[in-house]
Amino acid sequence: MYRFFRPALFKLDPESAHQLTLQLMRLAEYQPFYTILRAMYAAPDKPVEAFGLMFKNPVGLAAGYDKDGIAIRGLAALGFGHLEIGTVTPRPQPGNPKPRVFRLVQDEAVINRMGFPGKGADFVVRQLNGKRPKGLIVGVNLGKNKDTPLDEAGDDYVSLLTTFSPLADYLAINISSPNTVGLRRLQGREMLEKLLGQISGQRKKLSYYKPILVKIAPDLTEEELDDAIGVTLDAAMDGIIATNTTLAREGVRSSLKSESGGLSGRPLTGLSDSVLKKVVARVGGRVPVIAVGGIMNPDDAARKLDLGAALVQVYTGLVYAGPELVRATIKNLRRS
Ligand code: FNR
Repeated sequence: MYRFFRPALFKLDPESAHQLTLQLMRLAEYQPFYTILRAMYAAPDKPVEAFGLMFKNPVGLAAGYDKDGIAIRGLAALGFGHLEIGTVTPRPQPGNPKPRVFRLVQDEAVINRMGFPGKGADFVVRQLNGKRPKGLIVGVNLGKNKDTPLDEAGDDYVSLLTTFSPLADYLAINISSPNTVGLRRLQGREMLEKLLGQISGQRKKLSYYKPILVKIAPDLTEEELDDAIGVTLDAAMDGIIATNTTLAREGVRSSLKSESGGLSGRPLTGLSDSVLKKVVARVGGRVPVIAVGGIMNPDDAARKLDLGAALVQVYTGLVYAGPELVRATIKNLRRS
């Protein structure tokens, strides 16, 4: 089916194609459309437990696809066990000037420098208050506004944690997007200690205790990775998401590789796998790891689970392989 639509979608610029897809998914707010989509993409249950939550299968949608949570029902109908909504910032903001997403077709990759465009926390709260499909886990990925100074970033995350704890099943702290100036510096030992200290302090005060995961970049040195994981575990966070997009351009052939931003898709697979291995070894089973980065087919997902990930997430794979990727990946899993 997607093979039929893809050429038409690829004639549009990537961001317009994405918006169109999201609007189509939004049609699933209407029950008949939801029922049709569900029937088309029905996948077997392969339940898995992670950070105290029961997922109906280990395949999730990565952050950035539905930033404002406008198409939750439609995306759920594609078979995902979980959706990670966001990155959400406290206040609405426009993001970087367009064009800011590039399709590197010969490399099966995307470069984006979106810079967290979004309608802000209040809007996303209204989306999450709507009716949610049964058994779907919804995480919310949190980020700071562009104009919030880095040394006040903690206030943005704390306010978002407070807002979304009653509504989300888990929260993801995004300190690894390359498109918000300085954000990745929050992964450094001192800044991360301060940030996660503030976040865990706030969580203790809230009446809804929700799992919090930290999403990391694939571009950290061994020492930086070791520090980031150490601090995350010391702060009693519940898991790690590895990885976000990369600034590297290793093995990319398309001339668009000179565009600035984060690279995702096929060229990220190897780098993301190697970071996953290190994270799994360093974490030593104390918390679950969600693997994301360069899952383009069911075997990529199976390998990440074999490497020790509890769950996987996809984004760029959907652009190239279409929504069939979700069911194919679930069906391909050995465990049930
Ligand atoms: C992303 N990603 C992302 N991650 C995040 O934590 N917050 C975000 O807002 C976004 N936004 C975003 C936009 C676009 C256009 C892309 C392609 C990606 C990163 C995404 O969640 C994932 O970590 C990487 O893309 C790697 O996975 P894939 O795409 O190789 O499967």
